[in-house]
Amino acid sequence: MVDMNIDEAKAKVEIKGFLDLDIDASLDLFHEIELLKKEKNAVVLAHYYQEPDIQDVADFIGDSLGLAQQAAKTDADMIVFAGVHFMAETANILNPAKKVVLPDLKAGCSLADSAPASAFKAFKEKHPDHVVISYINCTADIKAMSNIICTSSNAEKIIESVPKDQPIIFAPDKNLGAYLNKKTGRDMLLWNGACMVHEIFSQQKILKLKMLHPNAKLIAHPECEEAVLQYADFIGSTTQLLKFAVTDSANEFIVATETGILHQMQKDAPAKTFIPAPPDNLCACNDCPHMKLNTLEKLYLCMEYEQPEILMDEQIRLAALKPIQRMLEISKAAGLGG
Ligand code: 13P
Ligand code: SF4
Repeated sequence: MVDMNIDEAKAKVEIKGFLDLDIDASLDLFHEIELLKKEKNAVVLAHYYQEPDIQDVADFIGDSLGLAQQAAKTDADMIVFAGVHFMAETANILNPAKKVVLPDLKAGCSLADSAPASAFKAFKEKHPDHVVISYINCTADIKAMSNIICTSSNAEKIIESVPKDQPIIFAPDKNLGAYLNKKTGRDMLLWNGACMVHEIFSQQKILKLKMLHPNAKLIAHPECEEAVLQYADFIGSTTQLLKFAVTDSANEFIVATETGILHQMQKDAPAKTFIPAPPDNLCACNDCPHMKLNTLEKLYLCMEYEQPEILMDEQIRLAALKPIQRMLEISKAAGLGG
């Protein structure tokens, strides 16, 4: 492997968003990553949508809320965030004294991209009497324009914390927003954004699969469309789906979310069968192309060279911090998260 200092690594990352050095094929990356964790007092936080190898080296695997809570409380010097950009950015907002690195800086999010800051600002200005609740899957700029942040595991509690007669803008996910409107009886004004992974499921193919597996329960993430959610036996965040799948009496599940979660489901309930819900076409489109940009090799390199690092404007960070803290307070009071 090339010997390089951190400044040289930084220059390389600026071009590609990740370090693409040749790694000695004889290296046991699992072992090397454990050594780097100790040497650098680093913690590896991974989302359930990461590839299995990354989940297996992580110190903590979780949904967006669990990961934000871990990032806020860690005493590690470096947070290695195996997830997408908005997640690593949230870790940096919550814990600016720590270095936060992401294996591939280009690991974005179609949902976050569906809410550009300038368009959202104009939308918000048209509704000055509304409070803004934003799903954590958005950029720091959107968070900075929000009153409270939520995730898929605490959204109902967050909405309930707002007086019933207070108009609300919910951004950026229209599917999650519609689901929450139904659950809470509110009429939140929804931003027209969506996740490319959760919109791809085919209602028709799922119904056919249910006929082939009559005892299987359909479990779905609330980012899915109503056409799929209406048939779900259980709806929840990735952590909630995992807990349900492990504890429920059923032995077969059709899983309507990103396929990465199946790794933990199979690990935690080896005797059960988990079937990925089929997408609308023949590709593996329920793999998140952003999440899957991270690899074990990139994870190792980003730990070794401490690049690419998440850096942000301090004013935006402080403005984005307030609504995230509000979310963490409400979640703590409600006993949510891990
Ligand atoms: P949760 O982590 O809240 O389950 O959300 C899933 C997701 O789409 C993350 O990008
Ligand atoms: Fe974004 Fe969807 Fe990928 Fe999650 S699964 S990171 S919401 S594109």
